[in-house]
Amino acid sequence: MDKTKVGIIGLGTVGSGVARLLLDFGDRTGRHAGRTLWLEKAVVRDLAKARDCDLPASVLTDDIEEVLNHPEIEVVAQLIGGLEPARTIMLKLLESGKDVVTANKALLAQHGPELFDRARELGRSIAFEASVAGGIPIIANIGQCLSANQIESLFGILNGTSNFILSKMHEDGAAYADVLAEAQRLGYAEADPTMDVDGADAAQKLAILAHLAFGARVDWQDIPRTGIDKLDVADVRYAQEMGYKIKLLAVAQLVGDGLELHVSPTLVKAGTPLAEVGGPFNAIRVVGDAVGPLLFYGAGAGQMPTASAVVADLIDTAVGRTKITFKTLELWSNRQARVTANDY
Ligand code: NAP
Ligand code: HSE
Repeated sequence: MDKTKVGIIGLGTVGSGVARLLLDFGDRTGRHAGRTLWLEKAVVRDLAKARDCDLPASVLTDDIEEVLNHPEIEVVAQLIGGLEPARTIMLKLLESGKDVVTANKALLAQHGPELFDRARELGRSIAFEASVAGGIPIIANIGQCLSANQIESLFGILNGTSNFILSKMHEDGAAYADVLAEAQRLGYAEADPTMDVDGADAAQKLAILAHLAFGARVDWQDIPRTGIDKLDVADVRYAQEMGYKIKLLAVAQLVGDGLELHVSPTLVKAGTPLAEVGGPFNAIRVVGDAVGPLLFYGAGAGQMPTASAVVADLIDTAVGRTKITFKTLELWSNRQARVTANDY
């Protein structure tokens, strides 16, 4: 069977999970792609640091040039967080002729137009299923499977860390700070968890989904947002007494000729599907004019669910399927959204 040689940049929570999937189940990828994915190089900052995967020494390097200049590495999973050096590395990868897969929504929400334009100029692809809702295939569904529809609305839980914290506060009356520390230990939170709890991470994901679903190029910082960082156990207790749960909801819906977008803690009636989404799980309700309502549910954060989405993108890239999502962005990228606040 033919091999596609793969590189990874960044061996943290997600990168280690991707390495484990590729090393343990390289032949599984072959079942779908008709070719095997082969992990050729993984770039880290510190060679001596313990990793959550068992890599042959020949694979590990601290020199990114070993990926950029490797003539046989065709596709690279770029799995470092934040904006820089992630942006510069992404551009260098594209300019070296590599297709890129990423889970970095902050980077795409901030620099997506520049990166996708550059990829298009160079004839390369960027796949980003893991950037929104971890293991849930929401990008493929909205970008491809629902393309016969006008999406009318989408809303739901897009940040696993916040949902984990809120769920524990509801279930155990646990203190906010203790649960946040647990979410960090379990690998759900961002390196800087401020963006998880102040609603920024959910707003970045909502901007990416709004681009795909509505063709709206939204600056994520224009999306009105409130996080869960000001909530107290008492708020959760009062909500429960009234028969509600508090969920951090991200909402996008067509209203007239505009698009309403916001992220905020919301009272959701106990017993309804969104109210019962627990732990680091995400759920997104999407309404299309032909298909009607759909509910997507699953692990929105965590090592192996996110690695599942990254490796699926690697497989798709290896067989040239990512161009569809990329083309969707290209086609829709000129429309603007009117961003409005609402007391939903
Ligand atoms: P992480 O655990 O902090 O891992 C990031 C890794 O990148 C670290 O190992 C870090 O190295 C490495 N790194 C940073 N700069 C580097 C450089 N210049 N060269 C080589 N390596 C470098 O983060 P993560 O949780 O895996 O998240 C990675 C990306 O996936 C982020 O964009 C995040 O938003 C996204 N994501 C995460 C999840 C999740 O559940 N964790 C889910 C979906 C998407 P050191 O080890 O030396 O610090
Ligand atoms: N920190 C993010 C979250 C990871 O908790 O949802 C998944 O994007």
